[in-house]
Amino acid sequence: MSNPIFLALDIPHLEPAKALLSKVKAHIGGVKLGLEFFCAHGSHGVHEIAHMGLPIFLDLKFHDIPNTVAAAMQAIHVYQPAIVTVHASGGRAMMEDAKAAAAEGCKVVAVTTLTSLDANDLTATGVYGSAETQVMRLAELAHAAGLDGVVCSGHEVGMVRKAWRDGYFVVPGLRPNGGGTGDQKRVVTPRAARDNGASVLVIGRPISRAEDPTEAARAIEATL
Ligand code: C5P
Repeated sequence: MSNPIFLALDIPHLEPAKALLSKVKAHIGGVKLGLEFFCAHGSHGVHEIAHMGLPIFLDLKFHDIPNTVAAAMQAIHVYQPAIVTVHASGGRAMMEDAKAAAAEGCKVVAVTTLTSLDANDLTATGVYGSAETQVMRLAELAHAAGLDGVVCSGHEVGMVRKAWRDGYFVVPGLRPNGGGTGDQKRVVTPRAARDNGASVLVIGRPISRAEDPTEAARAIEATL
């Protein structure tokens, strides 16, 4: 089985990002480049990282009218991404057109509900009911639209996997054992997320901010 760890390369400068990647590349399965990286380093930056030989997850979270999203999908073929993201709240037609425009073999996954939104924030945007209900509703819509899967938290992935057996699920927000936030009960480890059905584990700071990133990545890999 291939390594499910995708390193979130949320690093503002390109050379340190490449240096980090060189150190950990033997222990990860791919690299996630987000909006911050793309806006800062553009096409050049993506190509520089892609030349290092690992699969690229382009996390640009597209959300626009179907025609625009489809055109953007076509424009990113040049990077040959393994995984790309769109917002499920863009609607069914947008997701269908995004999938149709994606390169063959590229996984198109939907963001359901940003974890930065709590129940009050959701209500303020006109979304009533719990965050879980909204995640499940949008996951169903993504499934119906023919996407490959969704992005979800380690707390939700088990529930989503039950409803969507062959889905491709991307899970961020993970913390290896002992890599504590104060609130240990809510921490999901990479291993637990994997056991609950995650296909891809997005891990950033537990590796990038570790004293020894190579060792941190190796240790996480070993738990899987
Ligand atoms: O927290 P960490 O540095 O491991 O985050 C890795 C990546 O996952 C970051 O790019 C972050 O934006 C993303 N993330 C997310 N949802 C969360 C937590 C993190 O999309 N709940």
